[in-house]
Amino acid sequence: MPDGPAIDNIPRTIWWEDGKVLLVDQTRLPLVGDVLVCNTYEGVCTAISTLAVRGAPALGVAAALGVALWVVTETDDIATVDEFLAEIERVADEITATRPTAVNLFWGAERMKAVARDNADLPLGELRELVVTEALAMQAEDEERNRAIGEHGAALIEPDSRILTHCNAGSLATAYFGTALGVIFTAAEQGKVTRVWVDETRPVLQGARLTAWELRMAGVPHTLITDNMAASIMRAGLVDAVVVGADRIAANGDVANKIGTYGLAVLAKEHGIPFYVAAPTSTVDLTLPSGDDIVIEERDPREVTGFTVAGTFEPDSPVASRAFDALTEAGAYEVPVAKGHQLRLSRKGGAYHFDGWFRMAPPDVPVYNPAFDVTPAAYVTAIITECGVARADYAASLAATCSGAGGLDEIRRG
Ligand code: MRU
Repeated sequence: MPDGPAIDNIPRTIWWEDGKVLLVDQTRLPLVGDVLVCNTYEGVCTAISTLAVRGAPALGVAAALGVALWVVTETDDIATVDEFLAEIERVADEITATRPTAVNLFWGAERMKAVARDNADLPLGELRELVVTEALAMQAEDEERNRAIGEHGAALIEPDSRILTHCNAGSLATAYFGTALGVIFTAAEQGKVTRVWVDETRPVLQGARLTAWELRMAGVPHTLITDNMAASIMRAGLVDAVVVGADRIAANGDVANKIGTYGLAVLAKEHGIPFYVAAPTSTVDLTLPSGDDIVIEERDPREVTGFTVAGTFEPDSPVASRAFDALTEAGAYEVPVAKGHQLRLSRKGGAYHFDGWFRMAPPDVPVYNPAFDVTPAAYVTAIITECGVARADYAASLAATCSGAGGLDEIRRG
């Protein structure tokens, strides 16, 4: 690929604008490209818990920007540094209560609290500014780290590789550029990638909706498969490497990532395919000796029992337009559909939108819906961080690759 992937075509994930937090609504991509404006930190919390912003590194940035948003919108009445320190703890705790597994969320919030604590001798006005500056710096650092991960990881990719990835560890899962997809983008730039196999990633379809979209935007050749096809294409000799991201990596190298990752790792080992994990050091949690202690988020059964859809439509006649205009005049219109399905019509900036959830399983079926699983370190060929490539024994190797980089010290402090 002579010109390399056009990753500049991928929009920013989350950003700060005029004292507000803006983010691309990932629940509706790729069919609707809405930008959500968060005016309060509670709005950022909702965006996190609904998956409008998701992916471990992006959650770290969201936590930091959420705290910064609280600083600029709700701290005018705070009179003392002590009160500010107490309140920032409360707000950070509220933000981290949104999702339990990705450690970056806690890391982002902790870094905001730490900068406030460490500078408690400053006048309150300066302290407030410092917290906001720190949040913006974290956003820029995240992209830098991902580009370094991309370089380290691409060195492991052989020429003419067909790479399988799971979920979305792309630009949308980070401030920009991505971790696993960062490796793939960089290797593609070096002309080493002939195809990316994209797991659809049930139940929320981050692979089908987000990874396939990013690769298409960047012009990297890719093929979408359902999750249950991976074994068969590995056996057919069509996969040269698996590269995934991570939500939390324990001290021994056990990796929590999107549900289904463990199965891929076992398959990769069985077929002699390298299994790489790409993640920033902010995903490494040295406080946990092993993956057994990682809290796995369980999500709404409706992710499993039905499909969420979102899109735009064009009325096919003036009569239809007038009908939809009338229905949506006072705001979104809930279409009265039977069988527990849901369908909402709305209008925004001249475009007509539909948002729905369609049930496919019998009503009240019992559901188990863990969002993540843990892959034991024994199945991981290497962990790629911004500091380099770590291999088993991971505790020693992660510490060695990061020595002097400051990354792990920061995590320990957290
Ligand atoms: O539930 P999600 O979409 O937040 O899960 C995301 C993942 O599991 C990613 O693979 C992980 O966060 C790495 S993102 C660089």
